[in-house]
Amino acid sequence: MTGKGLIAAAVVGLGLVAAAAAWFSGGAPFSRGPDPDRHRSPTGPVEATAQRPGDPEAGYHALVNEPYVSCGTPYDAWRRLAPAPEPRDLLPGREGRNAELPYFLTAHTNADGVEIVSNNCLVCHASRVGDEVVIGLGDAFADFTGDPRNAVTQVGRFVRGAAETAAWRRWADRIEGIAPHIRTDTVGMNPATNLSWALMAHRDPETMAWSNDPLLAPPPENPVPLRTPPWWWMARKNAMFYTTIGRGDHSRYMLFASLLCADSLDELRAIDAYAPDIRAYLETLAPPPFPHDIDQELAAEGRIVFEAQCASCHGSQGETGTYPNLVVPLDRIGTDPLYAETMTDGGLDRFYDWVERSPHGGSVRAAPAAGYIAPPLDGIWAAAPYLHNGSVPNLAALLDSRLRPRYWRHATPRAYDPEAVGWRHETLDHGKDAAADPAERRLIYDTTRPGYANSGHAFSDALSDAARRALLEYLKSL
Ligand code: HEC
Ligand code: HEC
Repeated sequence: MTGKGLIAAAVVGLGLVAAAAAWFSGGAPFSRGPDPDRHRSPTGPVEATAQRPGDPEAGYHALVNEPYVSCGTPYDAWRRLAPAPEPRDLLPGREGRNAELPYFLTAHTNADGVEIVSNNCLVCHASRVGDEVVIGLGDAFADFTGDPRNAVTQVGRFVRGAAETAAWRRWADRIEGIAPHIRTDTVGMNPATNLSWALMAHRDPETMAWSNDPLLAPPPENPVPLRTPPWWWMARKNAMFYTTIGRGDHSRYMLFASLLCADSLDELRAIDAYAPDIRAYLETLAPPPFPHDIDQELAAEGRIVFEAQCASCHGSQGETGTYPNLVVPLDRIGTDPLYAETMTDGGLDRFYDWVERSPHGGSVRAAPAAGYIAPPLDGIWAAAPYLHNGSVPNLAALLDSRLRPRYWRHATPRAYDPEAVGWRHETLDHGKDAAADPAERRLIYDTTRPGYANSGHAFSDALSDAARRALLEYLKSL
């Protein structure tokens, strides 16, 4: 078991905030009612909603120190299994035990005096570029292909005494409930959305009590493949997530997606108090600059192409930049429709009802649109692979659909390709079905499988090679 592997496999949990409506004051009220369209948003521009103000500095502190995921492995058992953290994985501003843990883990002491180690948001939302941990960059290499129950069993062998056993049991029950729904079949694909639905299936929306037996029909077992978007786009986005399902108070949606284990109103109230700070911190994040040379003259030409061909959807950059917050319908964008269809075909409406019935219902609404938002493109050089399903390995292929590989895998060890702009990859002549062994299979990105298509967004195919080269250079500079 290796560092992030153990964790990604087992400790992660997206969970749900529970609370009495009384302390959910503030935020824009949404009407509740029988109108079935209340769980849908139109395509087109997304309007802004007022957000609760927060303190970014306090938000960073909370993000890397607070136990917003409060169940996990007893520290003593974890230490026996995990390798010593690498110095480059330590973050500044961490307190107590956290100062010696890798960035994606947070420790706290529970009510029984047991020290617990759990994943924090950064297990999915931070990644290394070179030797530096970039907070907010989705981890394109996170591995959710294993059965998380294996790690639970392994940790269980090192658990000692009644208090540790009780803590382990609580965590084991949650993992048991979600395990069947959070296994992806390709390394780098993230099951977060399915994980949220699975947790809702096991919680009563009014009392938040956890039930080992599902209370709602659980989501499909196979998560729709998704790559994790960078956090710094949130400064300009009026709704969260690719389909803009996350409407209303973003801070509640963010933390709503972080609490595998919060079972008491006091705990939840404490988390909701710092949630706006975390949101405020996320909005201060700037992408890292492209770490190689940029031909400024060529980029300036590219900017002109971008303004003419791309800015109407993606917005323009710089001081006078605008961002239209535009959801493009599936038939126009042409990228893999499975995710947006799954969100809007009615099959998940029971979870949107759950959100509505929860104490969040007044300030948060689950209302996806049948399309994908055109994201702001700042820091796009770092956000490979591209599109919501990560089906396109680099920007050169995003700009010219004829270059997109049908079957590919990340190069090992991971390396960045400054020319094509993305992680280096190998093009393969076979898909998953022809793969010799399971270890190879899970590394193959097979665009012929449902949800993985690399079609659509062919807007720059008709440009000249010279125009595409200029555009690529410009994209490096964002
Ligand atoms: C298991 C991995 C995972 C964990 C843990 C996780 N997220 Fe996410 N997050 C995702 C994925 C995947 C998406 C994209 C889902 C989508 O757009 O439909 C996402 C989307 C988001 C977005 C919206 C970004 C955008 O551009 O729309 C925000 C903000 C966010 N997460 C914040 C958080 C915070 C804060 C935490 C911790 C409390 C957290 N996430 C924990 C995987 C995760
Ligand atoms: C009609 C609106 C529209 C136009 C025009 C358009 N895009 Fe997009 N673009 C989108 C949408 C929507 C997505 C998200 C699609 C998805 O994730 O499935 C996207 C995704 C992208 C991405 C990948 C983002 C990610 O999350 O990986 C890049 C890069 C990009 N566009 C660049 C461009 C460039 C460069 C141009 C101009 C040649 C352009 N786009 C023109 C709507 C548009």
